[in-house]
Amino acid sequence: MTPSDVKATLSFSDGSPSMELPIYKGSVGPDVIDIRKLYGQTGKFTYDPGFLSTASCNSTITYIDGDKGELLYRGYPIEQLAQNCDFMEVCYLLLKGELPNPQEKKDFDRLVTMHTMVNEQMQFFLRGFRRDAHPMAVMTGLVGALSAFYHDSTDVHNPEHRAIAAIRLIAKMPTLVAMSYKYGIGQPYIYPKNSLSYTANFMRMMFATPCEDYEPNEVLVRAMDRIFILHADHEQNASTSTVRLCGSSGTNPFAAIAAGVACLWGPAHGGANEACLNMLGDIQRQGGVEKIGEFIKQVKDKNSSVKLMGFGHRVYKNYDPRAKLMRETCHEVLGALGLENDPLFKLAMALEKIALEDEYFVARKLYPNVDFYSGIVQRAIGIPVPLFTAIFALARTVGWIAQLDEMIGDPEYKIGRPRQLFVGSTPRQVKPLAQRG
Ligand code: CMC
Repeated sequence: MTPSDVKATLSFSDGSPSMELPIYKGSVGPDVIDIRKLYGQTGKFTYDPGFLSTASCNSTITYIDGDKGELLYRGYPIEQLAQNCDFMEVCYLLLKGELPNPQEKKDFDRLVTMHTMVNEQMQFFLRGFRRDAHPMAVMTGLVGALSAFYHDSTDVHNPEHRAIAAIRLIAKMPTLVAMSYKYGIGQPYIYPKNSLSYTANFMRMMFATPCEDYEPNEVLVRAMDRIFILHADHEQNASTSTVRLCGSSGTNPFAAIAAGVACLWGPAHGGANEACLNMLGDIQRQGGVEKIGEFIKQVKDKNSSVKLMGFGHRVYKNYDPRAKLMRETCHEVLGALGLENDPLFKLAMALEKIALEDEYFVARKLYPNVDFYSGIVQRAIGIPVPLFTAIFALARTVGWIAQLDEMIGDPEYKIGRPRQLFVGSTPRQVKPLAQRG
């Protein structure tokens, strides 16, 4: 970390001695004030629930400028990566810091391909779930269960274990997502096919049956690959912070990633794509475009808990760059499938237009996020709505692993242990049961 010449001084109104705090400069973005010695010197903690002003780590992986609407993976703008690279190149970049050359890409593709099968015993584990279980419930279980199948890659402090666990997780996530889908609909699992690309193989495992040949549609494969790229990492969001915190105890990589899957499930995070499509479906059922005004009124009513799903972001106070790319993909996919007049897409565009012009959204800088359009694309591809978040988890796995690896490799890393402001009861005496009124 680069120290700044500027120092911060913390002073107290009760005459306690003031304290000088070092500042570190980022390569881009806000500087940070180092408060690590604060408690030791003053006996006080800082208070920042929700991490509104707290950097939990230093990182070289992903940078977001929320005001500009900019997203960089290892310095490369997301737009350039989405247009020039496939998901495997982006995985390589996130894990290793540089884009691969042609030979490196070939070797990496091959390495991942050779790990796409899962231990056959996994299907018996999967069989224990109800057929109507939510795919994210199944995925949380399946990813955690990988640690029971791959004992030779569970030591998070061993770089070789971490490297092989990384490849296994990236390679097996599509197989597990497709298996959980096939299980839910009662179809046989489709084994991976090594001659296909990562994404075409996923589409085949999802949509093929043993009864006939399956030819992946190039436009849809490209769209799915773009969904993977756009969701691959997003700096210290809730699920990534969960993975880091979980991994900081020294637990194995599969367990840490399972914790990330569980966190991602929530509707304020990865579950928003499912919630967004359900919201569009509800408005459509109630009358469609005509009902947008009424819906927006509910969203703005402080006494209702209704939110415009797919809008707003903790960091972006501008159009989410991923949403722009997803919107473009949405047009391409609907065009290729002859679905330009899809009522939900039309509804989404009308809703977006009205919200972007509404004073409530303008004043709060609420713009569409990636989930606003990704649900429509996935639905057009044929992905059932409850599977959306599992696909997000598949794509985010590489980001979680890269962040976990970065943390473990940081010589300053410690187990994560936030402190608290205690506002509960002061010490009191336990009365015997008979004396409690
Ligand atoms: N609809 C209506 N009002 C909203 C929305 C929304 N989607 N998002 C924020 N607001 C309002 C909020 O009520 C608050 O108003 P006020 O200042 O009057 O109290 C103000 O905007 C600031 O919101 P906040 O809740 O303090 O913002 P936050 O940073 O804590 O929350 C968020 C960010 C993403 C959780 C929130 O915007 C939200 O719930 N959005 C809908 C869910 C969603 O689309 N999530 C996907 C995020 S992108 C994918 C991912 O990274 O997982």
